Amino acid sequence: MSPEGRNPINMLDLTGKTVLVTGAARRIGKTLVTAAARAGADVIIHYHQSHEDAEAACVAVEALGRQAQLLCADLSNPREVEEVIPRALGWGPLFGLVNNASIFEQIDWEASDLESWNRHLMINLTSPFLLSQAFARAVPTHSSGRIINILDWRALRPGRDHLPYTISKAGLAALTRSLAQSLAPNITVNGLALGAILPPSDGADGHDILENVPAGRWARLEEVEQAFEFLLRGPDYMTGEIIHLDGGRHVV
Ligand SMILES: NC(=O)c1ccc[n+]([C@@H]2O[C@H](COP(=O)([O-])OP(=O)(O)OC[C@H]3O[C@@H](n4cnc5c(N)ncnc54)[C@H](OP(=O)(O)O)[C@@H]3O)[C@@H](O)[C@H]2O)c1
Repeated sequence: MSPEGRNPINMLDLTGKTVLVTGAARRIGKTLVTAAARAGADVIIHYHQSHEDAEAACVAVEALGRQAQLLCADLSNPREVEEVIPRALGWGPLFGLVNNASIFEQIDWEASDLESWNRHLMINLTSPFLLSQAFARAVPTHSSGRIINILDWRALRPGRDHLPYTISKAGLAALTRSLAQSLAPNITVNGLALGAILPPSDGADGHDILENVPAGRWARLEEVEQAFEFLLRGPDYMTGEIIHLDGGRHVV
């Protein structure tokens, strides 16, 4: 056992590799970016409005002995999305792309309109598509790369709630499986489908979220880190996979 109590597993060495995480200034994105750094990678912290949090995330990564760069872009704007990968490549080659940035608005079928639909699809689906395409074109055929899409248990079990969000994540799950085929063998594409990790950032009441969670509790952020690290530096033979970290919510 390692000093942290984890069983040592031979995983990919991330030294000298750079991972770009979108929406990485705070909350789950910050957990992912610090997990990547703890696993040995240098990181690019994409953010939009959370500049101070992004700077704090940068300091946290540097404290782990890794390099961090900040990249600000509005992913609702296709022109800004197009510039993200070229700007990131200005710091050197990329190994990983983590599509984490997302909006999650409490809009049901009745309240959904074209504007809310387009907004969710642009940020949660179209932007990962454009970033993945630019990323894949930038990874030389003799190098390896990884794309990890942050999903939601709702992506494979769409219900009536959060309609534009759920459909955008269902599309991202489909994109994950399609790109796994198109980008093989040098780039793996996997998804991490999360459940009750953190209460919604908009302050919405999340009291009933645990009602249908077999585990009966919120996730611990270190559990998100463990699952993410497995996708980032675990088996190269795994692609097109969607791992659920949701306390069993998706099987209820
Ligand atoms: N929270 C949960 O329990 C939970 C459950 C299931 C799935 N997930 C998934 O896990 C991921 C992270 O969840 P979270 O709750 O940490 O997310 P969040 O706080 O709601 O949002 C993450 C980040 O997305 C960025 N973002 C939003 N709109 C953007 C835009 N127009 N341009 C660029 N960036 C934008 C924001 O960056 P700035 O702050 O810099 O503007 C924000 O910090 C998401 O993909 C979510 O769907 C989360």
